[in-house]
Amino acid sequence: MAQRAFITGITGQDGSYLSEFLLAKGYEVHGLVRRSSTFGTERIDHLYLDPHLESARLFLHYGDLTDGNTLSRLLQEIQPTEVYNLGAQSHVAVSFLNPIYTADVVALGTLRLLEVVRQLDQPVRFYQASSSEMFGKATEVPQNEETPFHPRSPYAVAKVYAFWQTLNHREAYGMFNCNGILFNHESPRRGETFVTRKITRAVARIKRGLQERLYLGNLDAERDWGFAGDYVRAMWLMLQQDEPDDFVIATGTRRSVREFCEAAFALVNLDWEQYVKIDQRYLRPAEVDMVEGDASKARRVLGWEPTVAFDQLVEMMVEADMELAAHERTLVDAGLKQVEWRQGRHD
Ligand code: NAP
Ligand code: GDD
Repeated sequence: MAQRAFITGITGQDGSYLSEFLLAKGYEVHGLVRRSSTFGTERIDHLYLDPHLESARLFLHYGDLTDGNTLSRLLQEIQPTEVYNLGAQSHVAVSFLNPIYTADVVALGTLRLLEVVRQLDQPVRFYQASSSEMFGKATEVPQNEETPFHPRSPYAVAKVYAFWQTLNHREAYGMFNCNGILFNHESPRRGETFVTRKITRAVARIKRGLQERLYLGNLDAERDWGFAGDYVRAMWLMLQQDEPDDFVIATGTRRSVREFCEAAFALVNLDWEQYVKIDQRYLRPAEVDMVEGDASKARRVLGWEPTVAFDQLVEMMVEADMELAAHERTLVDAGLKQVEWRQGRHD
């Protein structure tokens, strides 16, 4: 039987890379999309709209992780062989502002989906997008599958709940459920309010004369940053094993936000210190100061390795954003677009 995947969060960064990956492997891919007043499918339009490519095997369905009835109807119709739960209110800072909504989508949304999957006729392999944010105020460095959780935000608390529900359904009902505990992963498709993309967008726009400064919060925070394309491969590998299990996915190196700034500005020959300013509004009520992952279990069991190092990742993102900014500059010069200066958002 052809492999049929159902992906929540298909319009997000990871959803788009995972769709490409699964379509290339011959899967039929079904994705959950939220109705919005704009399309919101930019990251997958190249797959959905290309008549020669994969579109015949890519299907989008309206729904929401807060709507269990629709999830149930869709999965009964689709009868997937694999389910990837990537949908989330995934912004940590926003989770402090909208904690109950975040819990509804991230924690209860996962439980809703697990309950629907549990009641399907055929066995389904289930991937849960767990996060290094669950380690939070970590008790050891680096963190592995045995490291205790100490979540530091409503988002992270909700992810811990979803982690344990996923594991409990595995133990209680014998479901093939895997938690991928993924450390930060980025790409040119990263949302613009996450710090790496916020920096690379600003670097390119400053270089093209479209922006004057970049306002950030905590420059001392350290993250283990990898490339999203590598990380979706790990998701799939987890579901191809004989037994379900949980895996840390990380590069094993960490850098500070300051170091990311230095590297990104240096690529276009600018001194980051002249452009980066601190805005207290980007500080969080509680911070995860540092995370660094130990992915040796994934290397050993899955044969997974990251292929993109930190410097290559920064370069890839700056290059892509330089192209975007060049296009924006052309529109501005032709009088077709005003220079936008977005500021004052709590992201
Ligand atoms: P993302 O770019 O923010 O994408 C989130 C996706 O979830 C989008 O498709 C979004 O739809 C969808 N979504 C939001 N609220 C929803 C709802 N109520 N019902 C259904 N779908 C909803 O996130 P990402 O970076 O691809 O991350 C994918 C998953 O991995 C998330 O669960 C995230 O928490 C987790 N994770 C990410 C990282 C990382 O570093 N990227 C690390 C560890 C774990 P719209 O497009 O309509 O907003
Ligand atoms: N977003 C943002 N904006 N972060 C900033 C800023 C800013 O202006 N200035 C400094 N930072 C710091 C944050 O305080 C945090 O310590 C770090 O940069 C990374 O922030 P984000 O890029 O927003 O990512 P995150 O680590 O909080 O969360 C991301 O990674 C998690 C995996 O560890 C998200 O993708 C989560 O969904 C994911 O689970």
